[in-house]
Amino acid sequence: MNADTTSAGTRREKPPPESEGATLTVEDLSVHYGGVCAVSSIGFTVEPGQSVGIIGANGAGKTSTLKALMGLVPRSGGRVTFGGTDLAKVRARDVVRHGIGYVPEGRHVFPGLTVEKNLMLGAYARSWRDSGTRESLAEVYELFPVLGEMRSRLAGALSGGQQQMLAVGRALMARPRLILLDEPSMGLSPKLVEDILAVLLRLRGEGLSLLLVEQNAKLTFEATSDCVVMENGEVAMTGTSAELRDDVRVRRIYLGL
Ligand SMILES: Nc1ncnc2c1ncn2[C@@H]1O[C@H](COP(=O)(O)OP(=O)(O)OP(=O)(O)O)[C@@H](O)[C@H]1O
Ligand SMILES: [Mg+2]
Repeated sequence: MNADTTSAGTRREKPPPESEGATLTVEDLSVHYGGVCAVSSIGFTVEPGQSVGIIGANGAGKTSTLKALMGLVPRSGGRVTFGGTDLAKVRARDVVRHGIGYVPEGRHVFPGLTVEKNLMLGAYARSWRDSGTRESLAEVYELFPVLGEMRSRLAGALSGGQQQMLAVGRALMARPRLILLDEPSMGLSPKLVEDILAVLLRLRGEGLSLLLVEQNAKLTFEATSDCVVMENGEVAMTGTSAELRDDVRVRRIYLGL
């Protein structure tokens, strides 16, 4: 946990302006690992309340894109703004405070901590103007009753689907306006993928903006209004989820139809 608290006496960055819309704008974003180009000049936007999917095969650059948005890998080119703020000027540890939640690939819950402690860890990054941690906890338990029932259990004792819900719940504790999800359906049974879809639709219903990265195109088309298809680090196609679901090439490559 970082020491970015007033009690620790460290200087905080200025809070983001509340009045501006929370549109995510990605222009010409590139990511390189040494000489390897993982993401090549991609662009898209996520409007307030919009749900956008990024589908693509193994190694297409989906995770690198999300990590670059969060400042977790360096952007080798391009510009990313959220709610009018240029994220190049925001330290990685402060991106969450600007209203972007992140559910990483592989969930990364803390197995040796209780469910509730895992959730509380998500609250450290609350925005400056917000202090209702207990209220947020109650909201997460309302959204995921199973987490409330298991609040005192160790996270490591949860099933894969429950751990995914915990990872989403932890991100929600920071009260994001936009939530980035990296392959929430990975490794889950078809029944649990249905549960994840229900969660995503519920988040949409709450007015959150979503950016969903998935290899599961079927889930993505159901959960989002618009999609980006990534291939070899580039945007290969964009369109509404309904249009792409009916596209012959997409059906063949991503839906196996
Ligand atoms: N830390 C790293 N160092 C070097 N190359 C990397 C690193 N992380 C990813 N890559 C490479 O960057 C490219 C994009 O990887 P990335 O993980 O972003 O893809 P992805 O679409 O998320 O794939 P998956 O569906 O398997 O999660 C791949 O060629 C990958 O091998
Ligand atoms: Mg990935």
